[in-house]
Amino acid sequence: MGSTQDLDYPQIIFQYINGFLVSKVLFTACELGVFDLLLESGEPLSSDAIAAHLGTSPSGTERLLDACVGLKLLAVEVTREGACYRNTEISNLYLTKSSPKSQYHIMMYYSNTVYLCWHYLTDAVREGRNQYERAFGNSSKDPFGAMYRSEEEMLKFMAGQNSIWSICGRDVLAAFDLSPFRHIYDLGGGGGALAQACVSVYPNSTVAIYDLPKVVQVAKEWFVPSEERQITFHEG
Ligand SMILES: C[S@@+](CC[C@H](N)C(=O)[O-])C[C@H]1O[C@@H](n2cnc3c(N)ncnc32)[C@H](O)[C@@H]1O
Repeated sequence: MGSTQDLDYPQIIFQYINGFLVSKVLFTACELGVFDLLLESGEPLSSDAIAAHLGTSPSGTERLLDACVGLKLLAVEVTREGACYRNTEISNLYLTKSSPKSQYHIMMYYSNTVYLCWHYLTDAVREGRNQYERAFGNSSKDPFGAMYRSEEEMLKFMAGQNSIWSICGRDVLAAFDLSPFRHIYDLGGGGGALAQACVSVYPNSTVAIYDLPKVVQVAKEWFVPSEERQITFHEG
């Protein structure tokens, strides 16, 4: 039940109304490489300098940067020469491509794929089926067939899943003591990030990943080094 204050000014309703705008500001700044540029530069940059580096419009860039400041994704320093922008600590850690904790890939997946499907949420609820057909022209009968409509799309999905495990994989695996189990099976193990975290947390374990043949091929080629002897793949 809402408090009287909530009923006078429905803050959570306004937060929900604007939520997708916040996501898109974050996704756009990541996609354009704002956080990567500010990490590489090692010093605060003006909006014009950022626009020149990124090849974006000065006016659009300034608005995007100010929105990021409002969201605490960037900090601004105002001097006599004007405003200069720098990354916040959290942005350096999670929003730059080169960070080991980077969430770049999952954000790009959300921005370019999930976002488009969610545009058709009303249709999904009416029809009781996913909306890949409307969003991408792929049959909705086989969700993974639609998600993996090209090797590029598959790579993006797998990299996105892996980026989440880079943050919480070890905690998930340590939540239960799996040390008595020497042979662990990861059904639908995808890009293998959880398996890699598993053999790191439990060095005496081996992990067998089962997944679709084309996913196994991509995981071996891109994500799990061939020297990794504790992880095996099985196509199913
Ligand atoms: C939501 S993803 C999770 C991937 C992985 N566990 C992770 O968290 O990164 C589900 C996984 O199930 C796999 N999958 C879907 N259908 C499958 C099938 N019929 N046989 C084996 N794997 C399948 C997908 O390819 C995908 O890797």
